[in-house]
Amino acid sequence: MQELSDVIKNIKRFRYTELVGIHCHIGSQILSPEPFINASKKVIEAIQIFRKNGFGISAINLGGGFGIPYEPIEKPLNFKPIIDCYKKLKDKYNVEIFLEPGRFFVANAGYILTRVIDKKQRNHLPIYMIDAGMTENPRPALYNAYHHIEPLFEINGRRFKIRVTGPLCENADEFGVFNLPELNIGDYLLIHNSGAYTRTMASTYNGRPLCAEYLIDSRLRLIRKKQPLRRLIEDE
Ligand SMILES: Cc1ncc(COP(=O)(O)O)c(C=O)c1O
Repeated sequence: MQELSDVIKNIKRFRYTELVGIHCHIGSQILSPEPFINASKKVIEAIQIFRKNGFGISAINLGGGFGIPYEPIEKPLNFKPIIDCYKKLKDKYNVEIFLEPGRFFVANAGYILTRVIDKKQRNHLPIYMIDAGMTENPRPALYNAYHHIEPLFEINGRRFKIRVTGPLCENADEFGVFNLPELNIGDYLLIHNSGAYTRTMASTYNGRPLCAEYLIDSRLRLIRKKQPLRRLIEDE
């Protein structure tokens, strides 16, 4: 807030621009309402300071950061206090509210369908190597993100601690250790919550073409073909 007086001085120097709103983005994958409520208190302070200085703030963008449960033990974000707070902000300060919910809308709408391509053992822990890796979903390799993995078809029976790795030549090409049933090479698995920050972060590292994408609405539709090998090598 201390910096606002400098910001105001600078904005007043612009003859052809008009300040109409404030944007605020506090972080990512937040699963409790308090940080959003605290941030809107700061935004209210900023509205008051700007208005005192003659700026008619009419819009507030409160950004994204609304988290989703990636791990089965995580609870969904309780939106009720956030909505109550945003409604009060809108009514009391007469501003239009914009949000950037990013992952919240799309993460759990997407899955990566993959298959077991190899089985081995390292340090007494069985390993399933799958045909998806850090090229299709770099989040676990980049920042240790958890993506739940389950067999596509329900399999009853004992489950074991199994390390799931991708097929690349990197130590970081690994999804973590999961409780999985005995699977065979060729069996299908689903990597959950793959609708956000996966295809957009995907790469063709190790000469792996970008994978095909399907949309399931009333039927199964191919919406993006697997990258042809020609496209992969034409810029080499
Ligand atoms: C300005 C801004 N808005 C929205 C988002 C979306 O965040 P998320 O997908 O975590 O909700 C980001 C991501 O960091 C961001 O930087």
